[in-house]
Amino acid sequence: MTSLPQTGTDWTKLKARLRDMKQGDYAWKDGRLPVYIYYYTEELLRVSQEAYTEFFTENALGAHAFPSVAQLEREVIEMGIDLLGGGPQAGGTFTSGGTESIFLAFKTARDWARKEKGIDRPKVVAAFSAHAAADKAASYLGMEVVRTPLREDFRADVGLFEAAIDERTCMIYASAPGYPHGVIDPIEEIGALARKRGLWLHIDACVGGFLAPFARDIGYPIPPFDLSVPGVSSLSADLHKYGFAAKPASLLLFADREYQKYQGFEFSSWPRGTYVTKTFQGSRAAGPVASAWAVMNTLGRAGYRDIARVIMGTRDRLIAGVEHIKGLRVIRPTDLCILMYDSIDPHVDIYAVADRMGKKGWFVGKSITPKAIHVALNPSVAPALNDYLANLAEAVEQVRSTKEIGKVDYRTY
Ligand SMILES: Cc1ncc(COP(=O)(O)O)c(C=O)c1O
Repeated sequence: MTSLPQTGTDWTKLKARLRDMKQGDYAWKDGRLPVYIYYYTEELLRVSQEAYTEFFTENALGAHAFPSVAQLEREVIEMGIDLLGGGPQAGGTFTSGGTESIFLAFKTARDWARKEKGIDRPKVVAAFSAHAAADKAASYLGMEVVRTPLREDFRADVGLFEAAIDERTCMIYASAPGYPHGVIDPIEEIGALARKRGLWLHIDACVGGFLAPFARDIGYPIPPFDLSVPGVSSLSADLHKYGFAAKPASLLLFADREYQKYQGFEFSSWPRGTYVTKTFQGSRAAGPVASAWAVMNTLGRAGYRDIARVIMGTRDRLIAGVEHIKGLRVIRPTDLCILMYDSIDPHVDIYAVADRMGKKGWFVGKSITPKAIHVALNPSVAPALNDYLANLAEAVEQVRSTKEIGKVDYRTY
């Protein structure tokens, strides 16, 4: 048990201890950790850190006290709306991440359905690949998610969505792309279904929001997925992922800001008058807002396109490199920055390959369905790719010769 020390310790000593503690972590700047962090260049990291510390102490709850934070937030939201197909009616909120954006989309749709459709315990139809945050939100909010099987290409099956809709359904949830398989659901078809059945449609573009538009700009075939698709009601896009802002930061955008009347929380029966918030959080860090604003303005569209070039180029090199290794196969399709590969050699267990790669210092994700290695790329992987592929080829040969079986790891991140 650690107890609060009786007296303080000098900061230089504490700082050294903090640095020391990090020694056991994965070397993310060396591209060994393709999840959790989004690292491009030292310059961009410095911009993000300096902007963050500039607003380190301010509180984003206090829009009246800090008009500067309110303005930064407004500008970040407007840049998001502009990028992601919102029209003049669109609105949005700065949140603490994908989970909060999804939570607030569910809360808004729930209260909309209660008020405008008289549904008391609304249901959400989603594909098997929808992020776990959907069920997390539903469990907090007294809602229910019905998950439907995927098509062969891992995309949501619109026919099965339609079949799963009943009188309690208020929302359809689709991904652009889904985290497990990295593919974009058929958003236009799903939008048409949402319109036909009068349902809310939320697009989880937490991964794709700040990458897919730029991958499209540089020539990759990205289907329509944003607020401009008829039928889309709301969309989440994470600034702290491919927006490259400091954590925690995401946007929840609405095609029509009128819906936001169902988003907030208001309470008056206490001694301090009416308390109103749009987010789950009360006090909120202003640092991530300043970081997002500074990073977006530093990069501009051209900078984000450069990042997309690095990521997509790394993905293409990874695909070619993996397919060059005897016994491995890239699982297709893959639309953006996430890909999976598995083993087609009965003597090579892909989880054993993952475990071997782990021992070589790589943080490796295991997909359960299908059984595969899962990679979510960010630019830090680019300079490490040759080492990764060399280690991978070695790991495959080691597993082939020992015929070892890897650990099934049901815990995910
Ligand atoms: C598609 C998708 N949606 C939602 C989330 C949840 O985001 P967060 O971890 O920022 O809360 C993630 C996280 O990886 C994701 O990949």
